[in-house]
Amino acid sequence: MMAQSVVRSVAHFVPSKRVTNEDLSKCMDTSDAWITERTGIKERRFIDTESISTSALGLEAARKAITLAGWEPRDIDLIVAATLSPDYYFPGIGVMIQHQLGCRTIPALDIRAQCSGLVYGLSCIDGYVKSRQAKKILLVCAEVQSPVLDLTTRGREMAVLFGDGAGALCIEAVEGAAFEGRGILDSYLGSDGSGADVLCMKVPGTATPGFLRASDISEARVHPHMDGKVVFKNAVTRLIETATTLLKRNNLQARDIGLLLPHQANLRINEMVREQLGLSPQQVFNNIDRYGNTTAATIPICMSEAMEQGRLQPGTLVMTLAFGAGFTWGGNLMRW
Ligand code: COA
Repeated sequence: MMAQSVVRSVAHFVPSKRVTNEDLSKCMDTSDAWITERTGIKERRFIDTESISTSALGLEAARKAITLAGWEPRDIDLIVAATLSPDYYFPGIGVMIQHQLGCRTIPALDIRAQCSGLVYGLSCIDGYVKSRQAKKILLVCAEVQSPVLDLTTRGREMAVLFGDGAGALCIEAVEGAAFEGRGILDSYLGSDGSGADVLCMKVPGTATPGFLRASDISEARVHPHMDGKVVFKNAVTRLIETATTLLKRNNLQARDIGLLLPHQANLRINEMVREQLGLSPQQVFNNIDRYGNTTAATIPICMSEAMEQGRLQPGTLVMTLAFGAGFTWGGNLMRW
């Protein structure tokens, strides 16, 4: 019998500092009306002191998730961390979380799949579980993006979209007839690197002569860049491709989905996907209005809030969907 990957707990942590659209309109030429209409975002959270790093946010979410699962840090035998905004250029945040939690010298793996971090992470964890390499796994998705945004009119297309936050899941390998058909049922992942330059932050990096030059800072190249329209179109196409593939190969219909937890990049993207799949608004969980796009952390934050609101009950069929820089995309199908 195959081992199943079951979510034992999920938690999130966001910084307390709320930054409204109105606040942003004081440092750049933008407006609450523009941001709300185009994206659905009303506010986001930014770290309130520059001493808070990505691993520190991730750690807060991880500690909550471990407590909810009734685990101790020494029980964990694998950490998977997903972020595009690590504390250091290297090493990744997985080892920092391993150390700060006081875990044993277990493997700590960092995933660089940007907004698809959670869906790639769950797929990877399910592989470890099915090959019997790990039993108690911590998945941490965390981002501190506010310090790299260009919070001036020049950077407004990107700057209004993103926020800081973290989510964490405790996932356990279980076996036996009682768990048949439970946990992660399937994952579908994709990538297309021809889109790498469409949404990226190139500097600092080895493709830049000198890695990081004084002119890169003075000429504001140390910020993320995006062609929003190209990202938008690709996102809608790939999210629908992912959802229909997962449904088809598991002999399911859209009406069977209990709760869709989509990445939170743009409410219009999620509404288009919902309408094309024929889902009701009650079948989809969105919270972009309060957090903006927290990249790898969006889906775990949604999952944690859905759990708190009682929208994830034993037996609920859950689908995750994500698309992000790379391009990378994918989704997971889970029976709660
Ligand atoms: N405030 C006010 N105006 C802004 C602005 C802001 N924050 N950002 C851009 N603009 C301006 C542009 O300069 C442009 O002006 P112009 O027409 O004079 O050249 C205009 O608004 C563009 O508006 P519009 O064509 O309506 O934008 P859009 O419908 O493409 O929406 C995005 C822009 C960024 C919201 C949208 O493209 C998007 O969400 N793309 C996907 C983003 C995404 O998913 N990213 C993350 C992937 S994980």
